[in-house]
Amino acid sequence: MKSSQKQPIFAVFLAAGHGKRMRSTLPKVLHECAGKSLISRSLDEVYQSLPHANLVVVVGHAKDQVIAHLESWKQKNPNAHLEWVEQPTPQRGTGHAVQSLLTLESFKKADPGTDVLVLPGDLPLVTGALVQCLSEPLGKSAHYRLLTTVLADPTGYGRVVRSGKTAKKIVEERDASPAEKKIREVACSLYLFKASLLKTLLPKLKDNNAQKEFYLTDLISLAFKTKKKGEILEWREPGDLRGVNDLWELAEAEATARLRVIKKWAKEGVRFVDPNRVRVDDTVVLAAGVLVEEGAILTGETVVEEGAKIGPNVSLKNARVGKNAEVKTGSFVENSSIGEGAKVGPYAHLRPNSQVGAHAKIGNFVELKETTIGAHTSVAHLSYLGDATVGERVNIGCGFVTCNFDGRVINGKRKHPTTIGDDCFIGSDCQVVAPIKIERGAYIASGSTVTKDVPADALAIARTRQENKLGYAPRLRGMSK
Ligand code: UD1
Ligand code: CA
Repeated sequence: MKSSQKQPIFAVFLAAGHGKRMRSTLPKVLHECAGKSLISRSLDEVYQSLPHANLVVVVGHAKDQVIAHLESWKQKNPNAHLEWVEQPTPQRGTGHAVQSLLTLESFKKADPGTDVLVLPGDLPLVTGALVQCLSEPLGKSAHYRLLTTVLADPTGYGRVVRSGKTAKKIVEERDASPAEKKIREVACSLYLFKASLLKTLLPKLKDNNAQKEFYLTDLISLAFKTKKKGEILEWREPGDLRGVNDLWELAEAEATARLRVIKKWAKEGVRFVDPNRVRVDDTVVLAAGVLVEEGAILTGETVVEEGAKIGPNVSLKNARVGKNAEVKTGSFVENSSIGEGAKVGPYAHLRPNSQVGAHAKIGNFVELKETTIGAHTSVAHLSYLGDATVGERVNIGCGFVTCNFDGRVINGKRKHPTTIGDDCFIGSDCQVVAPIKIERGAYIASGSTVTKDVPADALAIARTRQENKLGYAPRLRGMSK
């Protein structure tokens, strides 16, 4: 039977530790790696491989923050069985963390033969393939499976002391003898236990070690002493098992995670001009035929459709870019969408809740905020549009400003709306003072400051008339001598 089929399984994530080596006020498991927190990376991998698993997160240090984060994970995955259990303060080690499981009602009820997967909260590169292998049903006489790997430099990891094919014990770096320190096979805090083994041996853990903690690793020596057999799964991809204990290790793990994401999309037909100089979060979705140039940063729930071009140093955060659209150099797009075939930038700024219609053009130094631009409309240069709704086929000249704020708050609203109908033509260097409506087909003459609504097909001119003083220029030149 494959483990992904139905037998009951618990997956326990250790997320209660302080993470002191991070030297950060943010709990370690909430640090982000390629756009997802460390804990949600592990949760996602396990949930995808074992959708029926009872997911249990052990919380402790900064638990309110961690629980709030788990609540939002649950909202995104409403069908997952996720609960958390508190490790009492002070947190006294990985064994102490798993002991909290014994207080959990759902675990108390679990059949002794139930499998329990244990994962640390700080291994961001664990893959679905690894989860699958680790959670395969145990051999008949085995009570646990220990995942190990061989590292060129095992410093800092628990060393696996073997007796033939079984593990005799795991020794932590601080407790290891010089001979044990030479062992390169290490434990990674990844295990599969029978619930019965945890129920019997967890209460027997002792804190007689360098850190005066209850080590989960000591379950292995307890099992050995009580003749409970275990299996070793030696994982040949040590890169999957990089732990994060400080911010440098996080940076290294993130570089690997990012390259994995980019490789995945490249294999799906996305062209990256320089894969080492782009950032694409795990949460982003790209289509075949997309081009991503150097320095692009694609984060959050960003989606880029077929054939779109993302230029150098473009930043897309929760953005949707339509088919064959183009976002040019240095543009910043946040919580906004760009329609099919539209062109944005260079150096455009789309602030939250803006929508650019199909085949529209948003040119250089144009800022949009909560603004909708209709199809085939052009705002080509140096303009600000806030709280505006602009129709289709509108031409907005250079230097247009919607004056949407008069310094007052009325009925809780600070900003006033501007509406511009289809087929309007707005000359260069105009301002419209909101709230205001420019109805379809209207013209606004260059240099106008428009304060009143403009009816359909009207021409609005709001500027002082020009006077030419003939022969006056030489007099001015004379004055300056
Ligand atoms: C642990 C293992 C070590 C292994 C290494 C691999 C032990 C004693 N050591 O060491 O053999 O090589 O992981 O990455 O198990 N945590 C709690 N409560 C606590 C302490 C820790 O929930 O009281 C959680 C942490 O949040 C973290 C995980 O357990 O997610 C691992 O803790 P950490 O302190 O990083 O253990 P290591 O020293 O790396
Ligand atoms: Ca660790």
